[in-house]
Amino acid sequence: MSTIQQKKEVLDSIKEIYDLSNKATEALYAGSISHANDVVGKLVDTIVENPNMYVDINSFRLYDDCTYNHSLGVTVISIAIGKTIGLSRDMLSQLALCALLHDIGKMQVPIEIISKPGKLTNEEFFEIKKHPKMGQDILKEKGLVPKVVIDGIVTHHEKVDGTGYPYGLKGKKIPLFGRIVACADVYDALTSTRPYRTPATPTEAIEYIMGGVGHQFDQDIVKAFLKCISPFPIGSCVNLSNGDTAVIVEQNPHCPMRPKIFRMENPSEVIDLFNDNLYFDVVIKSLC
Ligand SMILES: [Fe+2]
Repeated sequence: MSTIQQKKEVLDSIKEIYDLSNKATEALYAGSISHANDVVGKLVDTIVENPNMYVDINSFRLYDDCTYNHSLGVTVISIAIGKTIGLSRDMLSQLALCALLHDIGKMQVPIEIISKPGKLTNEEFFEIKKHPKMGQDILKEKGLVPKVVIDGIVTHHEKVDGTGYPYGLKGKKIPLFGRIVACADVYDALTSTRPYRTPATPTEAIEYIMGGVGHQFDQDIVKAFLKCISPFPIGSCVNLSNGDTAVIVEQNPHCPMRPKIFRMENPSEVIDLFNDNLYFDVVIKSLC
């Protein structure tokens, strides 16, 4: 199956499940969950079998940004993190289902609040904050997905310092899937287009995630995230802070923001932004 076909199939499946979660008959809903398991399995296979450990999240964007596209982005990043920390094939499938369905509770929050193009009032934010538990309630009631998936869904807005919701859990008390989806969710949300703001660049979003280690995010999960996310895919053209234009030639597994490059001016000289003393004060500003 081509990547485009696969993206379409996964997005259609997400849309089907989210649409049905509110009104479906039991049989229809069971069918859509089993369809989701099929497509999630294919997605896991694609990522597990990819010899390149980096995930270019942009290659998975297909339509205009929306809940379905966001769910797909979160799923792809979550699988990549799960693969990096060595989860089994079965666990990866369950993690993928958790990521795919993480915001299903939002279908029960009034649409005017979900799609409000601007800052939410305290009352509106109070309503939004109900969605993890609403997701838990929907899926528990149907009894169609494993407990580990539901536990991840209900805890995807917890923060490791205990300031998250709905329970205020701390550190490793937050289930593994909840900690993984939290990191993937924030990265994908920051880098997605919203009606009221321009998307953050991958570098800005990665800096934000790194800045949140120990407060919002689990350190081990962020370490794995940094190993698998590729803000600048090999071959991409970038603008440097010193005004030069350069091309990415090799990733740096320890620091995704400082890969090896060559400058357009001198393609025969490869510069290691992580180790070259002359370039310590030079950063990648943006993709060309
Ligand atoms: Fe959420």
